[in-house]
Amino acid sequence: YGDPSQKIDYVFKVVLIGDSAVGKSQILARYARDEFSLDSKATIGVEFQTRTLVIDHKSVKAQIWDTAGQERYRAVTSAYYRGAVGAMLVYDITRRQTFDHIPRWLEELRAHADKNIVIILIGNKSDLEDQRAIPTEDAKEFAEKEGLFFLATSAFNATNVESAFSTVLNEIF
Ligand code: GTP
Ligand code: MG
Repeated sequence: YGDPSQKIDYVFKVVLIGDSAVGKSQILARYARDEFSLDSKATIGVEFQTRTLVIDHKSVKAQIWDTAGQERYRAVTSAYYRGAVGAMLVYDITRRQTFDHIPRWLEELRAHADKNIVIILIGNKSDLEDQRAIPTEDAKEFAEKEGLFFLATSAFNATNVESAFSTVLNEIF
């Protein structure tokens, strides 16, 4: 993924947010390294990974930040959002509570991030269709009402992970 010696034209900071265990870290592992782990541990503090891509003949370094969904392990909120130009708001399609908490995450995001930040709502774990608790229509409707992009992803089988990041990065660009 990208030649480290190449010159970077832009660095875009993108933050992942959402409840614990919705799959934020595995979405990032899939995007940055094409890896996935079923026994992923809860994130403590902040981690980030980068991937360099080319958009319109310019090299863009995507710096993706990941923090804990669990309050007690979370990073300092203002520092986490500082400078972010994109955000991925993630819920788990099999757990209703994670979707019900989305308005709270959005509120926090809007309170701390730049007002022009590009936001995508992500319904992760689409491979678990038989356990679905949130109809896709409900999520689409919410996203539309709030002016967010929306995609259903699976870090497990890689569905739409690439698209989710390219949607945000292209829109930022
Ligand atoms: P915190 O770090 O605590 O905020 O959680 P997180 O949102 O980073 O969740 P994480 O990526 O650690 O994933 C939690 C669990 O869900 C792990 O067991 C993952 O393997 C699993 N998981 C993540 N994405 C998917 C997916 O797309 N499909 C399935 N079936 N499982 C997934
Ligand atoms: Mg995590």
